Amino acid sequence: MNDQSMHLIPLSDIDFGPEEEEAVLRVLRSRWLSMGEETQAFEREFADYLGVKHAIALANGTAALHLALLALGLGPGDVVIQPAVNFVAAANMTVAVGASPLFADIRSLTEPTISPDAIIDLLTNNEKRITPRPKALVIMHYGGYPCLMDEIFAICQEYNLALIEDACHAIGARYSLSDERSSFIGSCKTALTDPTHNEERITNNEQRPTPPFPHLACFSFFANKNLVTGEGGMVTTNNDKLAARVRSLRSHGMTSLTWDRHKGHAATYDVVDHGFNYRIDELRSAIGRTQLERLDHNNARRRRLTALYWEKLTPLEKLGWLLPFKDLYNSLLVTCDSSDFSGRSPLASCHLLPIVAPDAETRLACANALKAVGIQTSLHYPFVPSFSAFSGKIKESNLDTSKEFSSRVMTLPLYPTLQESDVTSVSAALSGKTSGKSYRSELSALRRLNGT
Ligand SMILES: Cc1ncc(COP(=O)(O)O)c(C=O)c1O
Repeated sequence: MNDQSMHLIPLSDIDFGPEEEEAVLRVLRSRWLSMGEETQAFEREFADYLGVKHAIALANGTAALHLALLALGLGPGDVVIQPAVNFVAAANMTVAVGASPLFADIRSLTEPTISPDAIIDLLTNNEKRITPRPKALVIMHYGGYPCLMDEIFAICQEYNLALIEDACHAIGARYSLSDERSSFIGSCKTALTDPTHNEERITNNEQRPTPPFPHLACFSFFANKNLVTGEGGMVTTNNDKLAARVRSLRSHGMTSLTWDRHKGHAATYDVVDHGFNYRIDELRSAIGRTQLERLDHNNARRRRLTALYWEKLTPLEKLGWLLPFKDLYNSLLVTCDSSDFSGRSPLASCHLLPIVAPDAETRLACANALKAVGIQTSLHYPFVPSFSAFSGKIKESNLDTSKEFSSRVMTLPLYPTLQESDVTSVSAALSGKTSGKSYRSELSALRRLNGT
């Protein structure tokens, strides 16, 4: 546990070891700190891992979403469909480019990813007169559990929508399509093809064509994510033009970088676009490379801990609690451990452990009870349309399930260095609270026994 944490069991923790220390020292000793060879290697290794053509490293995940929206040419007057159950970054960046978010509901309280039916309803329900026609769709793989990609791809193709995957929770997760083996989230691969886009088609490791609609994925390496660099992000795509635009906007639209000039590749530069400084640096790229090596092992550990939580928390289901994703994924979590996973089923990265309380009051009482015994919980996420910054900026849509989910969800501690005994402690504390027992002394005793 982090020494500075006020919690006996924090919500998240990082898995750093001598390898990360060595990576940072390697960069310090090289005396080159701004974007250079480490970043190029991080991008190449990340792209190879996912099986995607382009990976562009950035300052953070919000910058990734911002540049993905700009690369697609979205701007004032455009409408972007997206889930209301999400971190606020996608909605904020939509407004930042001058476009408007149009929120679609989630599938259910136990499958809280964007509902394909709700998207179609927004696109076809003439009574709502959604004008102009939405141009893009942002989806978010909540907690690291893939959205229904077959349906999402079909919608993008039929309604001519560009697709941005907010994959910030889903590094190392895989989605399956009905006709193919599974692919990594962020590989931007689909079984759909369109003869009119033949010139755009490329093949890569897995010999899969690129989709017939513009498609990018965005990742975050924030300190609580499955791959941590502190701050950091990545955009992936198979589309050469979109990748070039993201690269250009990352660094002020300049035609050469300091690194190129240092290496003697370019003496001067032109500015061809109004871009930003959204660059990552060498220290964080070096940490990212090391973290990428740990990713499969750590995701497998997250999956095992999730399965254990589900086992321990199952009795709560009789008391009106819900365990999102359990029914679909329980049998898949423990068997699927490695990057050479070649099955047809989806694979979760288990970023979050969400549970849904019977009602908002029970959630609050349980969160307070856990806090009192040193267990940190959180809420992923508050209902985005309810934030005051969005008041008056949102077109109306039916979001009843999202609203309900946000009022009842709580997230429990989950990270690779969490111990099985911690899962037992958290589950027992929650069960104790729901059955009216106090759990403080039992928890302290357990932690003493563990020596933590
Ligand atoms: C789902 C989701 N989207 C976007 C972001 C934004 O990423 P960052 O914090 O790196 O800007 C986060 C990070 O918390 C996230 O969880």
